[in-house]
Amino acid sequence: MAVALERVGLQRPAYRMWEWGQTAYALPELLFPARRLGSDGLPLPPPLLRVQVSGTARAEEFIAQSHRAARTVRDMVRLAGREFEALEAVFDFGCGCGRVMRRWSDVSGPAFVGSDYNRNLVDWCRTNLPFASFEVNGLTPPLPFADEQFELVYSLSVFTHLTEPLQNEWIAELRRVTKPGGLILLTTRGDAWAWKLTSQERARYDRGDLVVRYREVTGTNLCAAFHPSRYVRELLGRSFALKQSVAVGLEDGLQDVHLAERTD
Ligand SMILES: C[S@@+](CC[C@H](N)C(=O)[O-])C[C@H]1O[C@@H](n2cnc3c(N)ncnc32)[C@H](O)[C@@H]1O
Repeated sequence: MAVALERVGLQRPAYRMWEWGQTAYALPELLFPARRLGSDGLPLPPPLLRVQVSGTARAEEFIAQSHRAARTVRDMVRLAGREFEALEAVFDFGCGCGRVMRRWSDVSGPAFVGSDYNRNLVDWCRTNLPFASFEVNGLTPPLPFADEQFELVYSLSVFTHLTEPLQNEWIAELRRVTKPGGLILLTTRGDAWAWKLTSQERARYDRGDLVVRYREVTGTNLCAAFHPSRYVRELLGRSFALKQSVAVGLEDGLQDVHLAERTD
């Protein structure tokens, strides 16, 4: 089915329709305005924005994903021997509609900054998550930030949607904005997703190559990247020292979470 839609150029409109269809799960919010607040007491992004970052319009699932993601960031920072609250500046690259950022609303200490290339998502964050600041960036670097501005850069479910040239450019740019001694945390889809690959894709994956589907819509969730661990080691290793990789259940399956340090 997906192959047939792709052949006639309908994959993208079909995906858009699927995203809109998912918003039906949030119809009660139209009738009951109180439901526009999450169970965490913060404003809920509109259903379509939730679908675009989390694949679900179900409010409780969105909030549950938010807790899992933030716990993962905290756990990894602790593993590196750092205290999250003691960090000075934290950057969420590809912040979406603040699924992770909203968890820092009551954390005092670090300055929180997010950016995304989707202006609608950034506009929602600016209006609704005033404890942090947000910028729109382009599909390609640069970021509107100074060299060595952040002690922690994290990027959840973003490199999972980028082509190989963009991944290389963004790793170099994220290094530029990370302090020496600072940390980067990013997630990829690896072995837990390899069953989805065709036999040809699987052969490339097993050789250690990145596999990217729908590269022409890079940056959207339709573009799907599959990262073998060897590829991640090479990608991150050009700019950072990889410290730890673990598989964690974040949203619709396990993602590999990688933590690395800028050593120079
Ligand atoms: C699956 S969502 C994840 C959002 C957020 N990181 C989270 O965990 O909730 C992927 C996000 O990556 C963003 N994105 C994709 N390409 C980007 C780029 N080149 N620069 C910044 N953001 C990008 C998308 O707009 C989208 O918000």
